[in-house]
Order: sequence, then C-alpha cells, then structure tokens
Amino acid sequence: MPAKTKIWMNGEIVPFEAATTHVLSHSLHYGLGAFEGIRSYETNDGRAAVLRLREHIERLVQSCHIATIEVPYTVEQLITATKDVLRTNELRQCYIRPLVWLGEGTINIAADDNVINVAIAAWPWGAYLGSDALEKGVRCCVSSYTRIGIRSHYEKAKLTGQYVNSVLAKREAKLNGYHEAIMLDAQGYVSEGTGENIFIVRNGVLFTPPRGAAILAGITRESLMQVAHAEGLEVREENITRSDLYVADEVFMCGTAAEVTPVREIDGRRIGRGARGPVCKGLQDAFFKVVRGADDRFSDWLTYL
Ligand SMILES: Cc1ncc(COP(=O)(O)O)c(C=O)c1O
Repeated sequence: MPAKTKIWMNGEIVPFEAATTHVLSHSLHYGLGAFEGIRSYETNDGRAAVLRLREHIERLVQSCHIATIEVPYTVEQLITATKDVLRTNELRQCYIRPLVWLGEGTINIAADDNVINVAIAAWPWGAYLGSDALEKGVRCCVSSYTRIGIRSHYEKAKLTGQYVNSVLAKREAKLNGYHEAIMLDAQGYVSEGTGENIFIVRNGVLFTPPRGAAILAGITRESLMQVAHAEGLEVREENITRSDLYVADEVFMCGTAAEVTPVREIDGRRIGRGARGPVCKGLQDAFFKVVRGADDRFSDWLTYL
C-alpha cells in the first residue's frame, strides 16, 4: 500500500481515504480506463523535477482518445494538478500515478453516459524490481503468456484492462521464482516485459523491438535511445528472437518504474557475464545524470516544481 498521501481527484485535492469510487464503477467491471506512471527526482541542486511530465500527460490523453474516453481536463490542467499533488504532499523523489476511469452510470458494456473520473496520486518509491536490481540485475523468464497482439490490443494506449496480460505474466514469473517476465508476441518475437521495454547489446550495438511492434512505445525507451545516440552508441530497432536474448552480451529493461535495470539471467541461462554489463552501466550513469539535472543536453525533459 502506498503512503497515505493526499490525492487530486476530479479537480480537488482530497485526503487519501476520500479518494474512492463506487463498486458499480464501469471500469471496475470491464477494464476501460487509462493510466500513467511518472517519476519525480531530486535534482543535484536540491530541487525536485518531474521527468517528461508533458509527454506522460499527453500519452494519458492520447490513450483516452484511442479508447473513446473524453477527458474532462486539458493537458495543461493535468500538468498543474500533478505539480499541486507533489507540492501539497511535499514530495520530491516519488512515483506519480494518474488514472482515468468510468464511474457510475450504466453497467451496459457501451458505457454511453458514465461519469469520467480522473485522479492523480503520488507517493515516495524506490527501485521497482528490488533494492539491488539496478546494480546486480534481475532474473527473468520468457513467459508462457503471449503479448496481446495489435489486432486485439492498442499498443499505443496504456489502458487498464490491457494489463491483465501483464499481471498474469508477472504473477506466473514470481510464482516460479523470477523477478520479471519477458513476453513474446504472436509471431514469437520478443516484445517487452510486463511493465518495461527491452534492449539487448551485441558487439556494442543496442537492439530493441521496433516502435510498431506489440510494445508500449515507452517514454524511457525513447529517452534512452536519445541518450545512447548522444553518447555515440548505435541503436537499431529490429525484431529480436528468444535465442537472441540468450546469446546477447547484455540485456536490460527500462521503464519509468524499472528505470534502467540489467537482466543477469533468462530461463536459467546466464546473460553475458551474469552481471550488469558496461553498456548498461554507462547508460544508467547517463540516465541518472539527466534525471538529476546534470546534463544540459536534456534539461527540457525536467519540469521543476
Ligand atoms: C507494458 C509496458 N511496457 C513498457 C513500459 C515503459 O514505458 P515508460 O518508459 O513510458 O514508463 C511500461 C510502463 O509504463 C509498460 O507498462
């Protein structure tokens, strides 16, 4: 359970306990809703800055547009609301969770006239995949679940119901003693983790599944590609197979929650040296410099409070 911080809900900041919804809320039954995951960091000069806030809020509104949900707030209003939540709770280094969901009204599948609710919560949060994951790496399995394909799933939308696929794959991975699952798409190509995009390194070159694959077009993925280019690394968007994973020099996952997390083992096979590799370490260092406000090339990614 996250810390009991105050939550912005439908235009006002309310106590943690007041941010509730009715049991007949449409989204609770059928899963039509959208969400985001955003991080704020303490910068080297002692301030706090939200990483790529506008891009996340724009993706939230786009997810809703794709799902035919009319968000009753503008991008600007939601950016201001996010900053208000952090200021009210005096949060600096934290995770931010905006959510749009259909509330009371009809319980018909179409949800013609249901109330559209919006909430933004935030709480202090550490490393998503465990405290030593960023340094030591994680153990993954290739999931028995197939990543939902682009014919039955909107890969550009972060919709709540689509996450049943991720939740089941993650629960299976944890039951089997792994930190995270890697899902293949319907053709058998590597798609992504349950909440992360994936990169492999071969002979110093980075590879990641293309933007049009059955993946969420992650904002961290895109950020890392820009950082990698700026650091002189080559990045190729190409299909990756399961055996590419096993013989890669390095594999790492990335996402707002997971940041840049090395993968040290997949399905019982050691990856590379079985430890965080030099390319991943270099990108982690570069990424954390950016989020701490120490790289002027990417200072426009930070929204200071
Ligand atoms: C399925 C999935 N893939 C990738 C990502 C990474 O996306 P981002 O970097 O925008 O957080 C996430 C997290 O939002 C995710 O849930």
